[in-house]
Amino acid sequence: MLKEPVQIKNVTLKNRLVMPPMATYKTAGDGKVTKDILDYYNTRAEGGKIGLIITEHGYICRQGKAGEKQISFADDADLNSLKKLVEVLHQCGSKAIAQLNHAGSAASAAVTGERPVSASSMILPVTPPMGDGSIPAELTAEQIADIVQAFADAAVRAKEAGYDGVEIHSAHAYLLNQFYSPLTNQRTDAYGGSLDNRLRIHRETIAAVRAAVGPDYPVAVRLGGCDYMEGGSTIEDSVYASRVFEEAGIDLIDLSGGMCRFTRPGHEEAGYFKDMSAAVKAAVNVPVILTGGVKTAEEAEQLLAEGAADLIGVGRELLKNPKWADENL
Ligand SMILES: Cc1cc2nc3c(=O)[nH]c(=O)nc-3n(C[C@H](O)[C@H](O)[C@H](O)COP(=O)(O)O)c2cc1C
Repeated sequence: MLKEPVQIKNVTLKNRLVMPPMATYKTAGDGKVTKDILDYYNTRAEGGKIGLIITEHGYICRQGKAGEKQISFADDADLNSLKKLVEVLHQCGSKAIAQLNHAGSAASAAVTGERPVSASSMILPVTPPMGDGSIPAELTAEQIADIVQAFADAAVRAKEAGYDGVEIHSAHAYLLNQFYSPLTNQRTDAYGGSLDNRLRIHRETIAAVRAAVGPDYPVAVRLGGCDYMEGGSTIEDSVYASRVFEEAGIDLIDLSGGMCRFTRPGHEEAGYFKDMSAAVKAAVNVPVILTGGVKTAEEAEQLLAEGAADLIGVGRELLKNPKWADENL
């Protein structure tokens, strides 16, 4: 099953193995893709065995930059650098999706030149801490509209650079996750309170991105669906959110953790988010990606066979062993 193709809009993935986004932080500080970054992707993909590569999170505007050496989708001047990256992935026979991110309060003033922002003026409940330790400013509705527009502009750049699709990052305690999680969203306006309200920025972002890239272009969301923390977001929330995303026009749902980030406390088994992904898969018609803890192709096959997901991400194994896909598929 891992070797079976899957269709996302007009894009055919030749198999169900996904290299999930993993930040290299290897630019020179200007957001541009370097030879180091091209080599990193090329060594992992050149064997032609990875159906889909979702590239590391790139910032959509300077305010949302997560790290000094992160790649950028914030400026038209980034286009040439991004084109080179997509070219390498396509030459390897992989399809490429760009992960677009705003770090929110996980940004730091030293990198962005401004006070970090978030849904609410609250410190993130994450270990180890993210950001610069300062209390973020609560975004105004006007500032939220600017961020939504920045996502759409970045998506257009990804499309122009040749990417086969884009992924809106709403996991791992970054800005959209900060709106989604009740642990970090205590707003009393239309962007806070009920889950529907906490998903308002997502619906607006999806609509803006969709309007900007057109009806046929694949758009995904990476959802940090469950915080696995007292008072945090739940699997039921992730199912509800995924239905909302599907209704809003998302083509692919990529599941991971929320305030627990990409690991799950007390769990290291293959597919440690599978209780969430199976529940989401049962509730939506679009394909679902499950990532976390998978070390072998057999484990990936097993997760597909039991209906836990439609695609399987393998991250750290590919980091450790660039030839993982060639040796396992
Ligand atoms: C070094 C590193 C960087 C990561 N960067 C990102 C990222 O940019 N965006 C993202 O959504 N997840 C990121 N992740 C999480 C991975 O995409 C993946 O969900 C996680 O590694 C769990 O899968 P695994 O057990 O197969 O490694 C990163 C993980 C690692 C180890």
